Amino acid sequence: MTDEPVTLLARNLIRSFGEGETKTTAVNDVSLELHKRQMSLLMGPSGSGKSTLLAILSGLLHPDAGKVVALGQDIWSMTDAQREDFRRRHCGFIFQGYNLFPALTARQQLEIVLRWGEGKTYREARRKTDEVLSLLGLGKKGHLRPSQLSGGEKQRVAIGRALIKEPEFCFADEPTSALDWAHGEQVIELLSAAAHEQGSTILVVAHDARIVPFADNVIHMEDGCMSDLKPVSDPALLGVSHEAHS
Ligand SMILES: Nc1ncnc2c1ncn2[C@@H]1O[C@H](COP(=O)(O)OP(=O)(O)OP(=O)(O)O)[C@@H](O)[C@H]1O
Ligand SMILES: [Mg+2]
Repeated sequence: MTDEPVTLLARNLIRSFGEGETKTTAVNDVSLELHKRQMSLLMGPSGSGKSTLLAILSGLLHPDAGKVVALGQDIWSMTDAQREDFRRRHCGFIFQGYNLFPALTARQQLEIVLRWGEGKTYREARRKTDEVLSLLGLGKKGHLRPSQLSGGEKQRVAIGRALIKEPEFCFADEPTSALDWAHGEQVIELLSAAAHEQGSTILVVAHDARIVPFADNVIHMEDGCMSDLKPVSDPALLGVSHEAHS
């Protein structure tokens, strides 16, 4: 399917919540591989375990069993401090609620990642931030705070913040669900460019089937279990979704 190296490998992941009668197995024996330079899409009905799986793969939520090997390192056998350091160095996150700092301008949201997270100089941070703001179509909005930006603009800032350090991994949980399709499509194109041009490994949880043609893999979940990886190069799949558009 692809010659790109495996950057993240998960084996036999299990995670339950609750006890006895109310116990829910949100992730039930999931194994998968993600590759460099690919954007994978994780789809499935509400409650099927997508957010739980994404949180386990990205080092945010401890599995009950199984392992996750990212860049050759078993992230759930690290100490909390090691895992936090790994996430800080290698992972970008995008969530539905933007999680922007209310008091900071769009420009400052990006600059602090480089100044404090990456130790860049003021000049380097300024130059890279300008580049990313203009790439995001926010060249003239850098001085605005979140309350002055539209939903789509806020989500683009959140994406800029996740991608500005050119992370090996980017994890996005429903990044388009608060947006109309025109803005949602822009967001997906930015993520896809980060995979194909920067070589990031990207995992996106989304409901909207219009995203499928942009993805290199589609992973389906149902009741905590995964069905097969379906290559999007499958002409039938592409044909269906193109016809649906025209
Ligand atoms: N912290 C928690 N405590 C108890 N149950 C939880 C918790 N987190 C998730 N669950 C349960 O695990 C199951 C999977 O939840 P998850 O959030 O992973 O689903 P999802 O596929 O992301 O759904 P959605 O599309 O609605 O976001 C659900 O039944 C949910 O109620
Ligand atoms: Mg979810």
